[in-house]
Amino acid sequence: MPRIHFKTTDRYYEFPDGDEVNILRVSIRADCGLPWKCASGNCGTDRMVIEQGAENLDPPRRRERERLGDLLDQGYRLACQTYARGDVTVAWDPDQVGLDEESRAGQRLKAKWLGAADGD
Ligand code: FES
Repeated sequence: MPRIHFKTTDRYYEFPDGDEVNILRVSIRADCGLPWKCASGNCGTDRMVIEQGAENLDPPRRRERERLGDLLDQGYRLACQTYARGDVTVAWDPDQVGLDEESRAGQRLKAKWLGAADGD
């Protein structure tokens, strides 16, 4: 079973062979602690460095390329824009501050994000 290792918080998420999962969605779902704000590729808060398994990710889309610029070449991706289909290890700056998920805006966005299907 493929596994995403959220190294900064030392959490893991496993998913069935053949599935493709959005990294931010599974982080929120399994409480893996990756910081985020917009969940739509605009803020850059969920940038993470891919330490292993970059070959198991879908290629960056236009919005991600525009947001990250040169950081893409340094191995960074945006979790909300990135889908995994195999083992991956990701890490991020522990000082990165995300949205307060308990705030009203945080609750609303989180519910919307988790309510969508993985392929969305
Ligand atoms: S959460 Fe804002 S760019 Fe991904």
